[in-house]
Amino acid sequence: MAKPGGTGPVGPFPATVADDDEAHDEYDRMRRRLLWKMPSGLYVVGSTDGALRRNGMTLNWATQISFDPKWIGIGVEATALTHELIDASGVFSLCLIDRDDRAIVRKFTKPVDVDLEAQTLNGFPYVERATGAPILTQSVAYLDCEVRERVVAGNHTFFIGEVVDCAFLKDEDTEVLRMEDTRMSYGG
Ligand SMILES: Cc1cc2nc3c(=O)[nH]c(=O)nc-3n(C[C@H](O)[C@H](O)[C@H](O)COP(=O)(O)O)c2cc1C
Repeated sequence: MAKPGGTGPVGPFPATVADDDEAHDEYDRMRRRLLWKMPSGLYVVGSTDGALRRNGMTLNWATQISFDPKWIGIGVEATALTHELIDASGVFSLCLIDRDDRAIVRKFTKPVDVDLEAQTLNGFPYVERATGAPILTQSVAYLDCEVRERVVAGNHTFFIGEVVDCAFLKDEDTEVLRMEDTRMSYGG
């Protein structure tokens, strides 16, 4: 079975897996199911080129990676518009989404319609804080980040950002969205 957008099973294959296409395929599919099992949050990343372009993108590959300094990392596909914008500006925002707003993430899986005048992304109002990356006003909270490191990671770039501003926009007790709240998956 071909990988979505790919070329078939991806190695390496351990010695316990027979060296034929069928066994490789079966192992490849099992490994994807296992990778999909890894728990994760589900976010909207806000990006800008530092001038007039803006975007919002659904992302689940995000994690804190350092206490001091306060650094978080996000994995962004090299072909995504978001990648181009973060590369250009060196900033991004990570928006934590209300569990009740799970429908939002479906709206941010391709480049969005931006209205700079009305300050909306696909009709959702946004604000700009420290970095100028858009932050959905409907977010529970946001982390506004300046990129400190860029690590090329296969077909993604791991952008490491320092948190330069953050705040809750809703009650702190609001439950935030996780991948398991949806039927969506990414990676694998
Ligand atoms: C549930 C879900 C999770 C996703 N997680 C990521 C992610 O962690 N990193 C990424 O680069 N793309 C992720 N995507 C894909 C992007 O949302 C999608 O490729 C988007 O079209 C690329 O955005 P852009 O071209 O508008 O920047 C995810 C998509 C879905 C549906």
